[in-house]
Amino acid sequence: MITDYSERLVVQEVSPRDGLQIEPVWVETADKVALIDQLSLAGFSRIEAGSFVSPKAIPALRDGDEVFRGIRRQPGVIYVALVPNLKGAERALAADADELNLVMSASQTHNRANMRMSCEQSLAAFADIVALAKGTSASLNASIATTFGCPFEGAIDEDRVLAIVEAYLKLGVTGISLADTTGMANPRQVDRLVRRVLTRMSANALTLHFHNTRGLGLCNVLAAYEAGARRFDASLGGLGGCPFAPGASGNICTEDLVNLCDEVGIPTGIDLAHLLQLSRTLPALLGHELPGQVVKAGRNCDLHPTPAGLFD
Ligand code: COA
Ligand code: ZN
Repeated sequence: MITDYSERLVVQEVSPRDGLQIEPVWVETADKVALIDQLSLAGFSRIEAGSFVSPKAIPALRDGDEVFRGIRRQPGVIYVALVPNLKGAERALAADADELNLVMSASQTHNRANMRMSCEQSLAAFADIVALAKGTSASLNASIATTFGCPFEGAIDEDRVLAIVEAYLKLGVTGISLADTTGMANPRQVDRLVRRVLTRMSANALTLHFHNTRGLGLCNVLAAYEAGARRFDASLGGLGGCPFAPGASGNICTEDLVNLCDEVGIPTGIDLAHLLQLSRTLPALLGHELPGQVVKAGRNCDLHPTPAGLFD
């Protein structure tokens, strides 16, 4: 069956959060704000701009409050904040985040490593956050980390993922993300799970969050898109990873994803040339090369001069 590629794929840019959280160098607040302001001009409708977690757990993002206060918000862009608990939700609401992204892992072991809580404790905290957010304009998304596999526990039962989806929907969140925290997903698994989850919720509320840890990130995007998913997280330069998941590496790279979409004709509304320019500023900011490939190879349309004398 040939998939119709004419439906828009929504990219949520997560480099300011998932990207920077694992970086060992301190990125100044002003540089974070400048990065987000530039991303806001690239055509994204959603940007995960930071997290409100314990500064001891993630020192790199301890300035979330100042970052949210400092950014120049563009109309039509939703600025998302990741929160692990009630205290994080209070901070995110005080900083005027448009959406709170609550995170729990499908795996008990990863949830304890990452959040220092059982899944049951996380869900109880989420109920308090839902109550807190009621009456504010902030929307709620809830993520399931390690959906497609856990670096400690291995395979995750798909029925467990579905049960968490049900629990999230019962809580009253508007969006759900399925996160492949350490790049363990494969396209057949993605196809199966996305089709199952889409029997419970609409595609415009479901986000897929892939990491390219084993080189399957963009294969998984296409598999998910063909199964009906329309929203994807991606990170400029392919930055990112969870510091509490051994072997974690970068998210799928936004420029590479947008390039794929441009090549096969899936509309994203994102300006690839702008992204590539921005991605080229990252090595100087972070002090190392990044895994993104299109920024190194150029777009297909960036042609090289014909070697001299070839047709003489
Ligand atoms: N923001 C700021 N500070 C917070 C906080 C938040 N959201 N939640 C807790 N704290 C502070 C507490 O005030 C306390 O401070 P103190 O030591 O000065 O008294 C300290 O952190 C410990 O609080 P506690 O509730 O006991 O937390 P914990 O040590 O059990 O850690 C989490 C639990 C959830 C706060 C922590 O594991 C965390 O932030 N995890 C997020 C990890 C992450 O971002 N991973 C990547 C993204 S998926
Ligand atoms: Zn991630």
